[in-house]
Amino acid sequence: MKFFVDTADTAAIAELNALGLLDGVTTNPSLILKSGRPMDEVIAEICGLVEGPVSAEVVATEAEAMIAEGHKLAGIAPNVAVKVPLTWDGLKACKRLTGEGHMVNVTLCFSAAQALLAAKAGASFISPFVGRLDDLGLDGMAVIRDIRLIYDNYGFETEILAASIRTVNHVIEAARIGADVATVPPGVLKALAQHALTDKGLASFLADWQKTGQKIL
Ligand code: G3P
Repeated sequence: MKFFVDTADTAAIAELNALGLLDGVTTNPSLILKSGRPMDEVIAEICGLVEGPVSAEVVATEAEAMIAEGHKLAGIAPNVAVKVPLTWDGLKACKRLTGEGHMVNVTLCFSAAQALLAAKAGASFISPFVGRLDDLGLDGMAVIRDIRLIYDNYGFETEILAASIRTVNHVIEAARIGADVATVPPGVLKALAQHALTDKGLASFLADWQKTGQKIL
C-alpha cells in the first residue's frame, strides 16, 4: 500500500519524507487555508520535497474553467496530480486532462457508482471519503470494498486512494481490502507506530538495563 500524507504543512511533509514513508501528498482548499500560504507557492514547495504525485485541487465548477485551472496547476511541477470533484463537469475535465497526459485525482467520491464513472473517464486516482461517510453513520469502508471488487472485475487501472482517513483502523482495513493508496493526516500516520505494549515493554527493558550497570557506548 502506498502512503500519501493529507496535508499542506511542509514541515510535517519533510519530516515524514525523510523517513522514506511518503509516496505522495494530497491537499484540498481547506488544507491550503489551514497552511495560511499562497497555493502555488506551497504546492511548488511540496513538489520539491516529494517525488510522488502531489494533488492540487481546482476550485472552478464548470468543465472548461476546471481544465484551465488544471493546466495552471499542472504547470507548477511535473508531479502535480490535478484534483477535480466528482461532478458531471469534473468528469468532463478528468477525461480531457488525462487525455492530455496529466494525472487526475477525482475527489469527493461517496459511492461505487461515482467511482465507476471516474474510472471510465480515465482517472488516475479515485478518492472515496471514508470518514465523512462514517460520520453519517454509513459504512465508508464498504464503499472501498465495492470499488475494489468492481475495478478488479473489469481491470480498471484507476488507483483507489482511500481518503478522509481518521484512524489507524481505517488504514489497516483499507489495506486489508487492497486499496492502492491511503491518504492519511500526519497524526494518524505517526499513530501507526504506536502500541501500548511497545511502550510498556521498552520501559521494562530500560529499567532492567539500568540494573545491569552496563553501557553500550
Ligand atoms: O483530502 C480529502 C480528504 O482526505 C479530507 O478528509 O478529514 O476533511 O474528511 P476530511
